[in-house]
Amino acid sequence: MLEFLKSTVGRKYLMGLTGLVWMGFVLTHMAGNMLILVSAKAYNQYGHAIVSNKILLYGAEAVLLLALITHVYCAITLTLKNRRGRDSRYAVTPNGEKAPSRASQFMGIQGSLILAFIILHLITFKYGNYYETTVDGVVMRDLHRVIIEVFHIPVYVIWYVVCLILLLFHLSHGAHSVFQSFGILERKMQKGLKKIAWVYAVIVVAGFLSQPLYVFLIHKK
Ligand code: HEM
Repeated sequence: MLEFLKSTVGRKYLMGLTGLVWMGFVLTHMAGNMLILVSAKAYNQYGHAIVSNKILLYGAEAVLLLALITHVYCAITLTLKNRRGRDSRYAVTPNGEKAPSRASQFMGIQGSLILAFIILHLITFKYGNYYETTVDGVVMRDLHRVIIEVFHIPVYVIWYVVCLILLLFHLSHGAHSVFQSFGILERKMQKGLKKIAWVYAVIVVAGFLSQPLYVFLIHKK
């Protein structure tokens, strides 16, 4: 088992599996955040419910962190392995493997920027300004106020839009590669799966994009 996970195919599997964990997270994170568009009360109550359930919170954070570290580790080691065995002029490497396409080379750059985005994002929101509010007699963090403040800073909104567009490509290519890694290789199916991957990525990114754009363009400070 350990040998398999150390192999190129095993690491691709791990990348797919850990990518799937994050795909599930970003979809639910985007859907929950849509409450920003509803009201401060609804959003703060939602945020409070999540942080109040410590078992769920710490469990989910541990899974996400482990998945992220594994994903990045596999990405780096596979890229280095590919580079070592590759002469970029050939479509097939000396050890018989297919050379990485432009799209997968671009995945590394996207991945690095998305990682930077996640770290900055945590600093800004999770560990950012702490305000309190009382909703229906319950004291809780006023996360909505932090979001309104942050998304009125033009540089921050531009950074968000750029990173979310990168996320669109990363998710659509990643979701499609998951199907390939898991052996769904039939040509006919591949076309359909590529479409599903794009639809998924567009829904996630359009939802996320609507949040800073709504705050910046419509919501008063
Ligand atoms: C416009 C889009 C987004 C908004 C408004 C937003 C908002 C937030 C907020 C307010 C938190 C802090 C929650 C808390 O402390 O209770 C948070 C946490 C987080 N966000 Fe986002 N987010 C957005 C996009 C993203 C994207 C695209 C990713 C990943 C690629 C992401 C990954 C995370 C992670 C990993 C956490 C930490 C979860 C935890 O530890 O509990 N977010 N986000």
